[in-house]
Amino acid sequence: MDDSKASNQMWGGRFASGPAAIMEAINASIGFDRKLYAQDIRGSLAHSEMLAKTGIISAADQEKIAHGLNTILKEIEDGRFKFSTRLEDIHMNIEARLAELIGPAAGRLHTARSRNDQVAVDFRLWVKDELFRVAEALKGLIGAFLERAEEHASTVMPGFTHLQTAQPVTFGHHCMAYVEMFSRDLSRVRDAIGRMDESPLGAAALAGTGFPIDRHMTARALGFREPTRNSLDSVSDRDYALEFLGIAAICATHLSRLAEEIVIWSTPQFGFVRLSDQFSTGSSIMPQKKNPDAAELVRAKTGRVNGHLVGLLTVMKGLPLTYSKDMQEDKEAVFDAAETLDLMLAAMTGMVRDMTVNVAAMKKAAGSGYSTATDLADWLVRRLGLPFREAHHVTGRAVALAEQKKVGLEKLSLEDLRAIHPGIEDDVFSVLAVQNSVKSRSSFGGTAPAEVRKQVRYWKKRLAKA
Ligand code: ARG
Repeated sequence: MDDSKASNQMWGGRFASGPAAIMEAINASIGFDRKLYAQDIRGSLAHSEMLAKTGIISAADQEKIAHGLNTILKEIEDGRFKFSTRLEDIHMNIEARLAELIGPAAGRLHTARSRNDQVAVDFRLWVKDELFRVAEALKGLIGAFLERAEEHASTVMPGFTHLQTAQPVTFGHHCMAYVEMFSRDLSRVRDAIGRMDESPLGAAALAGTGFPIDRHMTARALGFREPTRNSLDSVSDRDYALEFLGIAAICATHLSRLAEEIVIWSTPQFGFVRLSDQFSTGSSIMPQKKNPDAAELVRAKTGRVNGHLVGLLTVMKGLPLTYSKDMQEDKEAVFDAAETLDLMLAAMTGMVRDMTVNVAAMKKAAGSGYSTATDLADWLVRRLGLPFREAHHVTGRAVALAEQKKVGLEKLSLEDLRAIHPGIEDDVFSVLAVQNSVKSRSSFGGTAPAEVRKQVRYWKKRLAKA
């Protein structure tokens, strides 16, 4: 394609010379929006079919257009298409090539359409496809957690608040917490798809068109539920991109919290899990080291994804209706967030699937830090009828004594305990055992292994339908 001629073939009537180099550099989006080529061609095919069906263009011209567009699709996919910066964006690159291929009929494709509704429909199609990809990836990650939860429904570990040992929980229960988080992400994805499932094509530049187009036909052909209902909003709305970034940022934030836990758990000090060689690296100087690089990078990449959300919110916040060129800046944010999130989800699913859980280390830690102190307080309430506040006090004294003797609560003698409260009896020791502690927390959504298994069954069934 001859670039010098192409420079003003679109608006040559108004501009005598091609844009200055700097203008071209700031204006062009082809470097990144070429990613939309398949959606652009799909949109143009649907548009041309509608134009022919409604008699706006002839069937013969439509056939030429369709043939030309399919040729271009193949050229791009085979890497033979010559993208030109002079032609600014993917829409004009394809249209110019169409003119080369089929001549004057190409000029009829843009009837009753503008790049404003064209880019809006292309980008919606792309974001919608990406959301389906994210949904599948989330299902994979949730599935991995369900497997681990089932396997470790009764593996005890310390539960933390403030990263201080709080009460014993099961590792299965901990895994199921992530099932809840990522299932909320999945439901956000579904909601967003439902909300954005409207076609803006046919809004034209901003006001609609006088040509007798059929927007319902193009909406259907492109897999949208229905056409959008206001032409101004259609070309100025980027909510679907913002929602995608919002979903991505929340999901990335979840992944980052998980990554942080994996980093902590895989330290020799914790030793709760061991990452497979596939997801860790060695040190070039310290032979003993095994670093959780993949988890650290998931944690770090969250900054990028969250940044894109703030970036696009900031681009959009001052824009009057309807289209402004500012909106061209929506794409790189979304593309990069999408690519990053896809990678983060894949890496995390891999890590969760094949990390080795150190049951013994978790169990040992579960019993340390006076983790069953609350169980002692609850026993005092249940068995001796003490008000909880008083029981809390008595337990505090027991913990202080154990600390002083440098032993766990369960290692205090009955005499020691009776000195603190004379009503304490021998069966108190059963609630001080970690396994019994978790077993007793059988309230709905609690950490008892039976309850964890129940929740695994619930989510497995729900996931199969999600
Ligand atoms: N490349 C543009 C974008 O991504 C396409 C729409 C251009 N419309 C216009 N009126 N200049 O936003």
